[in-house]
Amino acid sequence: MQDINSEIIRKIIQQKNQRNAVILVHNYQLGEVQDIGDFVGDSLELSQQAAKTRADVIVFCGVHFMAETASILCPDKIVLLPDINAGCPMANMIDARQLIAKKKELPGYAVVTYVNSTAEVKAESDICCTSANAERVVNSLGNQNILFVPDQYLGAYAAARTGKKMEFWPGYCPTHARIRPEDIIRNKKAHPQALVMAHPECRPETSILADQVLSTGGMLRYASSTEKKEFIVATEVGIIHRLRKENPDKVFIAASEQAVCPRMKLITLEKVLESLESLSPVVKVPESIRVRAIKAVDRMLEIG
Ligand code: 13P
Ligand code: SF4
Repeated sequence: MQDINSEIIRKIIQQKNQRNAVILVHNYQLGEVQDIGDFVGDSLELSQQAAKTRADVIVFCGVHFMAETASILCPDKIVLLPDINAGCPMANMIDARQLIAKKKELPGYAVVTYVNSTAEVKAESDICCTSANAERVVNSLGNQNILFVPDQYLGAYAAARTGKKMEFWPGYCPTHARIRPEDIIRNKKAHPQALVMAHPECRPETSILADQVLSTGGMLRYASSTEKKEFIVATEVGIIHRLRKENPDKVFIAASEQAVCPRMKLITLEKVLESLESLSPVVKVPESIRVRAIKAVDRMLEIG
């Protein structure tokens, strides 16, 4: 296996140089895919990397909405998603038609849209946010009433942090919803010294048991900067690879082994290579949608 992988990796590097490509990888990807990334990060960090890359081709090892965000930010580049079926179920819990109807019910509301959404939905939004900046984005809107889509749990977390009264679309992440309060309680009993880090996509009854609620990038920064040695990690299990790699002296326990995002795991080394060789599958947001969606994305990136 090791030999096969090293041969594939050698070919990926060769193709990458030939194509002047950059490989962006989300923190939930398979460990071997993370290891070939030019940049591994959370949704916000990956958007920031896409916005500033000088490469001609972006290979996005993540899910469809992430590749779409790269296409929104870099219309002149070729954006590849090595498996076109790698879609985020939460992003598909609201479409543009549903959002337009909801906006009619709530005139005057500012629409804050989690980046885990389609480009069409972003095009109908005032501003985007990620799990790393939701609180800052909501605060930037002053006294305006807010409709938060599609993640009701991230929305509830941002509302609790900012004290704002908000309306939520009833979307959620099926992977994070699998992490139950009982998982945290059981792991805390077995590891009483461990600190609990949870992603804000978790159910509120799970997040409330955490010591820190953080984006995946926030978890990585927090784990390396604190003196603490042991962590219970309540998010998709793929992040454990990077946490262990960057903190070999520390212990990381997945809150639930059930927290696997099957769509994230569709991307493999073989598919990355095929994608670079064939320059497909391409993700390209139509210009009529892109020019509207970029306003909400840019407004978020200005906040950082
Ligand atoms: P982060 O932005 O915290 O990486 O989370 C994004 C996400 O949920 C992808 O599924
Ligand atoms: Fe979507 Fe959840 Fe998978 Fe993230 S972990 S891509 S939010 S289904």
